[in-house]
Amino acid sequence: MIAALFHNHLSKLVLSTILLILAPAEAQGNVTVGRSLYADDRNLTWRSRNHEFGFGFHPIPGKKDKFLLAIGYAQIPERTIVWYANRDNPETDRGSTVEFIESGYLVLRDPKGRELWRSRSVTDGSNVSHAAMLDTGNFVIVSRNSTNIWESFKDPTDTILPNQELDVGGSLSSLSAETNYSKGKYQLRFDGGSLVLNQIDMFTGKPYEGYSNLGTGSHLVFNESGSIHIGNSNGSLVALAQTQRPELNYYRATLDFYGVFTLYSYPKTPGGGESWSVFKAWPTDLCSTFLDLANQRGNRFGIGPCGYNSICEPNEWRPNCTCPAGFSFLDEKNKYGGCKQDYPNNPEDCSPDGSTIGEDRFEFKSISFTNFPFSDYGIFVPATELECKQSCLRDCSCAVAIFPTSRKDGNATCFKKQLPLFNGVRNRGTVDSTVLVKVLKPDASRKKPETPNQSNDNRDRLVLILGVLLGTSAVFNFFSLAAIALIFFCLFRKRLQDLHGLPSRRDLETNLQFFTYKDLEHATNGFNEEIGRGAFGTVYKGESPSSYGDLVAVKKLDKFAQDGEREFKTEVKVIGQTHHKNLVRLIGYCDEAEHRLLVYEFMENGSLSSFLFGVLRPSWQQRLQIASGIAKGLTYLHEECSKQIIHCDIKPQNILLDESFTAKISDFGLAKLLMNNKTQTQTGIRGTKGYVAPEWFRNTPVSVKVDVYSFGVMLLEIICCRRCVEVEMEEAAILTEWAFQCYSEGMIRKLVENDEEAINDVGKVEMLLKVAIWCVQEEPMLRPSMRIVTMMLEGAVQVPSPPCPFLLSSMSMLVSKTMI
Ligand SMILES: *[C@@H]1O[C@H](CO)[C@@H](O)[C@H](O)[C@H]1NC(C)=O
Ligand SMILES: *[C@@H]1O[C@H](CO)[C@@H](O)[C@H](O)[C@H]1NC(C)=O
Ligand SMILES: *[C@@H]1O[C@H](CO)[C@@H](O)[C@H](O)[C@H]1NC(C)=O
Ligand SMILES: *[C@@H]1O[C@H](CO)[C@@H](O)[C@H](O)[C@H]1NC(C)=O
Ligand SMILES: *[C@@H]1O[C@H](CO)[C@@H](O)[C@H](O)[C@H]1NC(C)=O
Ligand SMILES: *[C@@H]1O[C@H](CO)[C@@H](O)[C@H](O)[C@H]1NC(C)=O
Ligand SMILES: *[C@@H]1O[C@H](CO)[C@@H](O)[C@H](O)[C@H]1NC(C)=O
Ligand SMILES: *[C@@H]1O[C@H](CO)[C@@H](O)[C@H](O)[C@H]1NC(C)=O
Ligand SMILES: *[C@@H]1O[C@H](CO)[C@@H](O)[C@H](O)[C@H]1NC(C)=O
Ligand SMILES: *[C@@H]1O[C@H](CO)[C@@H](O)[C@H](O)[C@H]1NC(C)=O
Repeated sequence: MIAALFHNHLSKLVLSTILLILAPAEAQGNVTVGRSLYADDRNLTWRSRNHEFGFGFHPIPGKKDKFLLAIGYAQIPERTIVWYANRDNPETDRGSTVEFIESGYLVLRDPKGRELWRSRSVTDGSNVSHAAMLDTGNFVIVSRNSTNIWESFKDPTDTILPNQELDVGGSLSSLSAETNYSKGKYQLRFDGGSLVLNQIDMFTGKPYEGYSNLGTGSHLVFNESGSIHIGNSNGSLVALAQTQRPELNYYRATLDFYGVFTLYSYPKTPGGGESWSVFKAWPTDLCSTFLDLANQRGNRFGIGPCGYNSICEPNEWRPNCTCPAGFSFLDEKNKYGGCKQDYPNNPEDCSPDGSTIGEDRFEFKSISFTNFPFSDYGIFVPATELECKQSCLRDCSCAVAIFPTSRKDGNATCFKKQLPLFNGVRNRGTVDSTVLVKVLKPDASRKKPETPNQSNDNRDRLVLILGVLLGTSAVFNFFSLAAIALIFFCLFRKRLQDLHGLPSRRDLETNLQFFTYKDLEHATNGFNEEIGRGAFGTVYKGESPSSYGDLVAVKKLDKFAQDGEREFKTEVKVIGQTHHKNLVRLIGYCDEAEHRLLVYEFMENGSLSSFLFGVLRPSWQQRLQIASGIAKGLTYLHEECSKQIIHCDIKPQNILLDESFTAKISDFGLAKLLMNNKTQTQTGIRGTKGYVAPEWFRNTPVSVKVDVYSFGVMLLEIICCRRCVEVEMEEAAILTEWAFQCYSEGMIRKLVENDEEAINDVGKVEMLLKVAIWCVQEEPMLRPSMRIVTMMLEGAVQVPSPPCPFLLSSMSMLVSKTMI
């Protein structure tokens, strides 16, 4: 079927973006050695002689000051990219440059001049003639004897153009979302002599089995006369499509971010109202493709086009993804990224025998013609729809029940399913089942209904709080002091206000306050009460100089390099702009002569270290909450704040607890501030023994994955309520090794011995343990990002079984290093 369907979503989205047609050409034809381009608002490009293609920096829509070094169409108003550089990290900042250097490479540099990428030219550095943006859309680097030593056509991203070929070793990879140019989860490649589309596992990059086979052969050809076919060395070919009038239309074949390989066309003659239309797409119905494969061959093709807990609905060639009732998109801006439960399954809803507490708070929403072919754990027949619902309602583990749409005769099969759901499909024509989603009634409270045993819980909580109070004298002291301070302030508030005089100055940009050294000396009563001492300095308790009655923690930095004046302000501003529920808030700072101090909000319940390793074991629920809070805080530091922050010293001493035991990460941003070397690569080993990732000991650059490692170690400590190294525990001395041993031998209970609450929730223990083992993988690439960790802890993503975290050769090294 050849259908020219208008691609409306895309056109609306991109029409408002840039008009390349207006962009001036920097050069046409040959690009000589030494030429360069600069990422700025001039949008200069190196044009092809027919003016149809431009090579240069393209602004990324919706992202201020971010550019892509790319090849795009220069004559059409829609920003359409056909190739871009540096696939692993394609976004560059304003002020980046690309230069065609004498030795025959294209070199991309960031605004500070650091090299980000260079073309993998086949050259020894001599005999380079020139580079050129060709009329076909191929950017080439040419040697003196007229051979191409590099071509963009040989290094494709997600698109192939007429005159381009894809060979056996080559592949196309999709974007990860409509405007996210990172590598996504789909590939087009040759596998075992066939051209296939497949998903990859996002943790390891390994391919799943192909979900669509386009034909056998050894190279994909899009030839000059517009034929797309798969060629074979014996001369036979499999025709895929024959385009019409290639001289009048632009054609491109793109592996779209939602997993469909699509041949698009666009009229070259301007007539108004043009847009890219779909000429042909493979496969034509992605949702059904996945469903059919799943029904026939099982779950070996990945999680489907829409992600977890989401329903795929065919909509012409491009699937629609929707969330079932009671679920919403994980990322509102990316409908293909999966859904999460609005009110996650709560262990408090379950009684020890697995039945639901407070059944009457739930109801069912039905979605007809829909199925999730996997995730069922309970199947019974014969059943009526009512029986099916009743069974799911009473079963605390049940998230949805599936019942045939057409059979209501009491002789049907009922399936009960758990989260996460995947490969969900809705199709009126082919799916004969109804999904019954168990959702909380709109007015129902999340709280467990009153039970006669409620008092028991309260008593436990009271014992816990008392225990913490008595167990940690510092906290006890603090409470008494706080009480005295409060009384003091209430009585003398007026006088104090007179004494302190003017409020402190404020930085309007960050809302941080500047304090004088005198202010802080006064606030801490002459740095009288030390409450902590860390790698960066000493922490004192004080009263806020600007907000009467509030307590603050004042950190006096002692290791700060004297000459780093400007850097101190810059870094403090970065910290000041970092706000998250799970981060300790910076209130202000002092930067006066040799004095450098940071003023933070005060955390009532001390550090996680004293909480976790104190006399009384904290409750399992509290520990779960703390773990998830820390994960969220780290996700924010790594991915969501304006400037990525690697903590470098995640450990229980650096996690503080506020009055409601919410976990808050402290000391973030300090690693960078106090690092001697300005690069983030090899410096002295930072961090604390036992928690530092193995790459610190190697000569490799460190990344956010060092924090993931430390988080993993700490998660094990949270599970087991013990320190990561306890020499007297002999074979169990190193927690990471002991935990993996218990996991691999199926003796998870051993890790939580004597912990009733955890043993009763052994499924959760196992889940956390698996997450922790993923995090402490010695190979940083294997560790998940904190975002994935957060999703796993929330149950939005299934946790696959982790491999052994230790590389055998370095196991003994690790042991000796952690024992230092
Ligand atoms: C370059 O592109 C940007 C973003 O679309 C646009 O705002 C700007 O006007 C363009 N500059 C020129 C000189 O065309
Ligand atoms: C580009 O350079 C080559 C070799 O120097 C030359 O043969 C060719 O004519 C040049 N093309 C243009 C458009 O200047
Ligand atoms: C460069 O060109 C010279 C003369 O044309 C030739 O002798 C030499 O082998 C060439 N070098 C390479 C690496 O091709
Ligand atoms: C041109 O030079 C490249 C190396 O610069 C060499 O590999 C290639 O064989 C040469 N081709 C011809 C036709 O001389
Ligand atoms: C882009 O996609 C990558 C890979 O899926 C992801 O890690 C990154 O967070 C995404 N970026 C944005 C801004 O969503
Ligand atoms: C392109 O391939 C088709 C076969 O699919 C063939 O008929 C045609 O001649 C080819 N055109 C060129 C220019 O090679
Ligand atoms: C060429 O090879 C393909 C696949 O290997 C095979 O299907 C086809 O029959 C062969 N054609 C000829 C003419 O040998
Ligand atoms: C798919 O989504 C679009 C926009 O959200 C909607 O207009 C369309 O009706 C949907 N198609 C189907 C088959 O549900
Ligand atoms: C119910 O199904 C069983 C087995 O499929 C069949 O033998 C029986 O006749 C069915 N009963 C009714 C009432 O349809
Ligand atoms: C209350 O707890 C006791 C022991 O913990 C248990 O035997 C009893 O069944 C519980 N009562 C209710 C109503 O849950």
